[in-house]
Amino acid sequence: MNNLIKISPSILSADFSKLGSEVISLEKAGADYIHIDVMDGHFVPNLTIGPEVIKKLRPLTKKTFDVHLMISPVDNFIKDFANAGADIITFHPEATKNTSKTIDLIKKEKKQVGLSLKPNSKIDIVEKYLDQIDLVLIMSVEPGFGGQKFMPEVLEKTKVLKEIIDAKNLNVEIEIDGGINFENCALAKKAGVNILVSGSTIFKENKGDLKKNIEILRKN
Ligand code: DX5
Ligand code: ZN
Repeated sequence: MNNLIKISPSILSADFSKLGSEVISLEKAGADYIHIDVMDGHFVPNLTIGPEVIKKLRPLTKKTFDVHLMISPVDNFIKDFANAGADIITFHPEATKNTSKTIDLIKKEKKQVGLSLKPNSKIDIVEKYLDQIDLVLIMSVEPGFGGQKFMPEVLEKTKVLKEIIDAKNLNVEIEIDGGINFENCALAKKAGVNILVSGSTIFKENKGDLKKNIEILRKN
């Protein structure tokens, strides 16, 4: 099972004054994806980065840009993020009036589609789209900030989601995001997760040894 695990470090915990070299270091350290958190100060109470920054990072690595949009309404920005170099575009169903339409906008740009569930969002809001998307991102903290405490209650929902995906024989990955550390990553994998997002653990544990931290998350 372990070799299917992908690690997607969140650059929200990186040093923003040297974002380019941080992304290069993550690639060297063995990251599978680069998780980019986009926040608008409206859908979530924090502001981060937009397409211009992603465009500047794009030439520095071939790694998959795993772009997590926490912005509302989301439709008007899909094209900008696609053009900037996003590979996966994940949005929250609550951030659009018409989930199907937003999925189609992303597909039209030939990008992978992710749907994200906040800790209190129910599986129902993604279930009917499972055959049209590539991944479900389970938030294990309230979206908005790095460094928060993992909410173990989302694991139950994760298990049920995994069962639904398997029962339908679909090729949908499950990603988890928020408060992931060296202990709870094992619980997440057991629940059916195969992509781990991590900011604080990867950038801060073991004095910021990115390679070591990515390896531990992968194998634990
Ligand atoms: C929170 C973001 C997460 C966050 C993860 O809204 O979506 O990606 O940066 O950071 P940690 O691992 O520190 O919880
Ligand atoms: Zn995220």
